[in-house]
Amino acid sequence: MTQLRVGIVGVGVMGSDHAERVARKTSGARLVAVSDADHPRAEALARRLSGGSASSVRVVEDPLDLIAADDVDAVILASPGFAHAEQLFACLEHGKPVLCEKPLTMDAASALEVVEAEHKGGRQLIQVGFMRRFDPEYAALKQLLDSGELGRTLLLHNVHRNKSAPPTFRSEMIVRDSMVHEVDVARWLFGDEITRITVHTPKPTSLVGDGVRDPQLAVFELANGAMADVEVFVNFQVGYEVRCEAVAERGSATIGLGSGVFTRAGGQWGGAMPADFRVRFEQAYDLEVQRWVDATLRGEIDGPGAWDGYAAAAVCEAGLESLQTGKPADVALADRGKVLG
Ligand SMILES: NC(=O)c1ccc[n+]([C@@H]2O[C@H](COP(=O)([O-])OP(=O)(O)OC[C@H]3O[C@@H](n4cnc5c(N)ncnc54)[C@H](O)[C@@H]3O)[C@@H](O)[C@H]2O)c1
Repeated sequence: MTQLRVGIVGVGVMGSDHAERVARKTSGARLVAVSDADHPRAEALARRLSGGSASSVRVVEDPLDLIAADDVDAVILASPGFAHAEQLFACLEHGKPVLCEKPLTMDAASALEVVEAEHKGGRQLIQVGFMRRFDPEYAALKQLLDSGELGRTLLLHNVHRNKSAPPTFRSEMIVRDSMVHEVDVARWLFGDEITRITVHTPKPTSLVGDGVRDPQLAVFELANGAMADVEVFVNFQVGYEVRCEAVAERGSATIGLGSGVFTRAGGQWGGAMPADFRVRFEQAYDLEVQRWVDATLRGEIDGPGAWDGYAAAAVCEAGLESLQTGKPADVALADRGKVLG
């Protein structure tokens, strides 16, 4: 196979961005089908990406039919998290490689079932969309830390701020949909599992709906004794800002300082802040999808797998417990050797 025929399930904000990417920027791939619970949305996108005729990108009403279709070699899942489990099982059943947007599923138990089902099939088909791993700055930080040049890594300080989030983005979603990225970053940079999480809820901003605990400040404890903290603030008002500082024995390294074009004009100096994640992480998404396509054509995955999605779900589940109790919560993680052994 030299060209991967890709179908996309869920073409809202993320899925339509991936659809453009596959249709216009990714080599070795062709967008052949889209499916969305909102059919007119899928039809409008298909028309746009087919140059007006909808002939080359078809719309499939039922996402499970898209996954089963003979002319779809691989799937990108960008439906909401609650739809992932059923759609992932369908991908496994039909032997379709899948790039699944985070979260893998909504809870640790269903995520573990996905890991086990994939393992039973004997081939890694699932890659999870933790795209920070593909961001050139994060990748350079990982390389620096792994080189040992700064000695052992001891601490991570993370900041994750969005300009605003809809009122439906409740406290639990801040953990499961936003903080989950830093959960993966910490596991990946340290190469270790998180064993305990504490989610603190400081004085909330007055600019969001009743009861939404925003910002949140979480502390992750890793099996090797290292620690990471993250401030997640999804109604920061200013722009999208993601930073990570690693503190090691002989130095520290920071990424995400946004040191792009620096201007002095009109009595002001400084740079611009992106309004959302699609701008800040455009290169990461491009690399993620290109490397997923290349690896899929080789019959492999090249990035975080189902286990990483499960481990992140387990940490977030403990994070939700801590959010409620205000106390540290231990992460209940299955024994990797036993599950995948
Ligand atoms: N990696 C990232 O940085 C990143 C960023 C944003 C969103 N996401 C993830 O991408 C996914 C989609 O998020 P979004 O922001 O695009 O949401 P969205 O609400 O903009 O889009 C979701 C789309 O899925 C459709 N849909 C709903 N139920 C469906 C179903 N059962 N089957 C198929 N389609 C269905 C909706 O009609 C909508 O068009 C989520 O898992 C989210 O966490 C990841």
